[in-house]
Amino acid sequence: MSDWISELLTVQEQIRKETVFDDPIERLLQEHRIIAALTCTLEVWSMRAEDGDEVDVECVDALVNLLTEFVDEVHHEKEESLLMPQLVALGLMPEQEDLRAEHQHERYLVGALRYLTRLAEPDDPLSSRRFATLARELVAFQRAHLESETRGIYGVLERLDEGRRAALKRELQAFDRRKEPVLRAWRARLERLLERRGGSLEERPPTEPATAIWA
Ligand SMILES: [Fe+2]
Ligand SMILES: [Fe+2]
Repeated sequence: MSDWISELLTVQEQIRKETVFDDPIERLLQEHRIIAALTCTLEVWSMRAEDGDEVDVECVDALVNLLTEFVDEVHHEKEESLLMPQLVALGLMPEQEDLRAEHQHERYLVGALRYLTRLAEPDDPLSSRRFATLARELVAFQRAHLESETRGIYGVLERLDEGRRAALKRELQAFDRRKEPVLRAWRARLERLLERRGGSLEERPPTEPATAIWA
């Protein structure tokens, strides 16, 4: 199994570990830890590519799917549609334009990464240099974004009164239930990728009992 796949599997391991989500606000932080794990994977890949390693396009494509379908369409959407409007309405946060602009910039970087993977052909593999440059930029941007949110938005949540916090939790839980299939679908795609390469997720025993629907 290639090193690129092994590093991709560390993201799945992190998803498996983040199993406690009774509290939907804690779940947002779990999502940040998953995003941090996939950012680490992207960083390791960028270093490999800088060292001249050939880019594993299928692995990059799998990570790009996770960045789009989970990070953007689940996590960012939850922040933009549920979390920020509440905090802005209560005067606990300034307008959310900065946050939307950051998410938009990340969409642009992920789109560029997807475009690069689409250009790759067997006789014209993805340029390691172009991949490394873009991946590094995305890693730096993602880390700064996670840090500013953790300091800003998530710190403010504790200032919500009990009633508003309970109402927000109900909305977040309903959202999470609707989006539940997304990580399952990613896991299934990862399993198919591994099968094509002669491996299986089952060959990697979980570090903890798999008790969650995410696992
Ligand atoms: Fe965000
Ligand atoms: Fe976030």
